[in-house]
Amino acid sequence: MFSIARPFHFSFTWFVACFLKLTTMAKSCVPLSELATSNTHGEDSPYFAGWKAYDEEPYDAAENPSGVIQMGLAENQVSFDLLEEYLEQHPEATGWGCGISGFRENALFQDYRGLRAFRQAMATFMEKIRGERAKFDPERIVLTAGATAANELLTFILADPGDCLLIPAPYYPGFDRDLRWRTGANIIPVHCNSSNGFQITTQNLEAAFAEAVAMGFRVRGVLITNPSNPLGTTISRPVLEEILVFAARNDIHLISDEIYSGSVFSPDEFVSMAEIVEERGYKDCERVHVVYSLSKDLGLPGFRVGAIYSYNDRVVTTARKMSSFTLVSSQTQKMLASMLSDRVFVENYLETNRKRLKERHDYIVEGLKDAGIECLRGNAGLFCWMNLAPLLKETTREGELELWKLILQEVKLNISPGSSCHCSEAGWFRVCFANMSQRTLEVALRRMRNFMEKMMMIKEN
Ligand SMILES: Cc1ncc(COP(=O)(O)O)c(C=O)c1O
Repeated sequence: MFSIARPFHFSFTWFVACFLKLTTMAKSCVPLSELATSNTHGEDSPYFAGWKAYDEEPYDAAENPSGVIQMGLAENQVSFDLLEEYLEQHPEATGWGCGISGFRENALFQDYRGLRAFRQAMATFMEKIRGERAKFDPERIVLTAGATAANELLTFILADPGDCLLIPAPYYPGFDRDLRWRTGANIIPVHCNSSNGFQITTQNLEAAFAEAVAMGFRVRGVLITNPSNPLGTTISRPVLEEILVFAARNDIHLISDEIYSGSVFSPDEFVSMAEIVEERGYKDCERVHVVYSLSKDLGLPGFRVGAIYSYNDRVVTTARKMSSFTLVSSQTQKMLASMLSDRVFVENYLETNRKRLKERHDYIVEGLKDAGIECLRGNAGLFCWMNLAPLLKETTREGELELWKLILQEVKLNISPGSSCHCSEAGWFRVCFANMSQRTLEVALRRMRNFMEKMMMIKEN
């Protein structure tokens, strides 16, 4: 009796308490700051709305086979088994080392530069990803809670409220929140289009710069994402050189977000801005800042581990001071220092992960092609950039969102509309393929094929 009555009693009390609290909150409506209530966080965009739709009705092969499949989340689960295997073989990486004293050392550690062993391991890992064609000094690595914090922190340092950053579009929708919301900075998109595979050109950069100036903004920097999210493509060496020359000519900063650098299917196809800096004998390097994180290449977004690598001493010093607001726990650092210092593990992981991502990528691109859908030629990342423009009733943002809703509600696939990435051409969508099992991917492709057949029949009649 007692064991049944107790939980009921507690949950009922909890329910009443919550109800009273909510009604009191609704009545009082005490004002919050302008920052808290501003909508520059951008979280009301379809990019995030699609996530909610998935949360309400998630696909499960056994429990909910007609549920929504999440293809809007750039998460890498394809090599998780390798991480688990490492931890199984190296229990010391997650333990306290020498018992209670190890625990004490970890619990009390609070140097905001982070563990030297971890910064060294990150530097070596970043070099390895770049085929050792670039060097990283652990003393220049500033640790942050993911690339989200790294990008925001850099914006705080490089721009004042009201200033702006130029960002080649289409771009990662989270930038609207990360770079604008708390900093008060603005974003001016550098519009790229399909005529040259969405590549960045000096003309596009100059046009965005002129637009920003005409709007009365002071331009403080350009932020590139290489490899690109959402395009899944890398930026070529000549284009990277042009971007750096553009930044120097206009006396602005250059942030290179290289969060997907280890997820390039063929490592030779990735050129880091760090390589360009070294090749140019460090000319103009004081304006270059590289952002990295373990969220994508290692598939650890929950660990919140990111880094800023700046060639500018003042930026390094300021970023280090500011990183107090966004540190990485010493326990996480200790575990990852051990994992990333294991040369054999790292080499095997990077190679296997690249191979698996390429297999996934080729599988979905081929499957979509069979269904009559073209994708932009990609060579990196956890997604492909799919062209559904031929299906649009009208070639506008509204037409694109109408199609997106149809795919979400009827096909039960959450993909990201290009307009949420500020793409200037309607009809492009980002489709993620690494956050699910191969089986689920097969179901998603089958749904897409059926949908295309239906659409073709409607078109023909
Ligand atoms: C280009 C880019 N930068 C930054 C982030 C944020 O990454 P993190 O999880 O490390 O904060 C993402 C996540 O999707 C991203 O795609």
